Amino acid sequence: MSRTVISKIVGTKVVNDATFMISLLFEEQPKPGQFVMVSLIDNRSDPFLPRPISVFDWEDGLLKLLIRKVGRGTELFSQLSAGDSVRVTGYLGNSFPDTNDSICFVGGGIGIAPLFYAARKSIAAEKLFLMGFPTESAVICLEEKRADTKLLYATDDGSAGVHGTVVDMLKNRLEITPPDLIITCGPEGMMKAVQKIASPYNISIFHSLESVMACGIGACLGCRRELPGRSVLVCKDGPIFDGLDIFPEVPQ
Ligand SMILES: Cc1cc2nc3c(=O)[nH]c(=O)nc-3n(C[C@H](O)[C@H](O)[C@H](O)COP(=O)(O)OP(=O)(O)OC[C@H]3O[C@@H](n4cnc5c(N)ncnc54)[C@H](O)[C@@H]3O)c2cc1C
Ligand code: FES
Repeated sequence: MSRTVISKIVGTKVVNDATFMISLLFEEQPKPGQFVMVSLIDNRSDPFLPRPISVFDWEDGLLKLLIRKVGRGTELFSQLSAGDSVRVTGYLGNSFPDTNDSICFVGGGIGIAPLFYAARKSIAAEKLFLMGFPTESAVICLEEKRADTKLLYATDDGSAGVHGTVVDMLKNRLEITPPDLIITCGPEGMMKAVQKIASPYNISIFHSLESVMACGIGACLGCRRELPGRSVLVCKDGPIFDGLDIFPEVPQ
């Protein structure tokens, strides 16, 4: 059951030039992979719709959001500071599956945002977290590494971490020990490539999809996506989908 509250910001942090973190009070505990819709309260002079943002972390009523500035809305969020309040509707969407065996999280760019909380909450005996970025200056969240999770990262230009894409990193890993379950979030091309290279291994693969969202609750139909034989709403039926549904054209 989601609800809308006026939530107080208790801290903000600049992560890099394009990315920042907001910590705010939100009592309920989310499920891994869920998201909130965030909007400014006093936005009469600059109106805009709420924006969907994933749960980056939650503990003891403190909700953390990791946000990349891409347009007007996220730019306005970046100007918020401790003591300000925002309107938050949540929690929305479905949640990631889990396993008690081995799990691999694959995140590209800001797509890493919903994966940290999922990794922390996962009961898997083996947790591997692979992150991919274009270049060194885009690398974020290395300090979020936890003792029970192996975290590796790659950059496309080789300026930091492993040289190559996060998909290349996963490919190497699959050749050694394929995990039970793969969870991804990032650019859709990356998620499709993961589906393709992992499909011969008979692994469950789930992707967290992005879509422009106006309401987040299944009312506006703005996030509708056509799948073979059915249409889904990314906000209500997702954002997490089985890879076999999203990329049916990838050979199994
Ligand atoms: C379920 C879900 C969870 C998300 N979680 C996060 C998160 O944790 N952190 C984060 O930084 N972002 C997240 N996003 C993306 C975020 O919602 C958008 O970046 C944001 O809405 C852009 O708003 P804006 O006003 O800054 O940009 P706008 O001015 O609305 O758009 C700027 C540009 O970005 C494009 N764009 C806008 N929204 C999206 C989108 N959803 N997908 C692809 N392109 C888009 C527009 O087409 C335009 O080209 C999430 C999206 C979804 C659907
Ligand atoms: S965002 Fe309105 S229906 Fe999904």
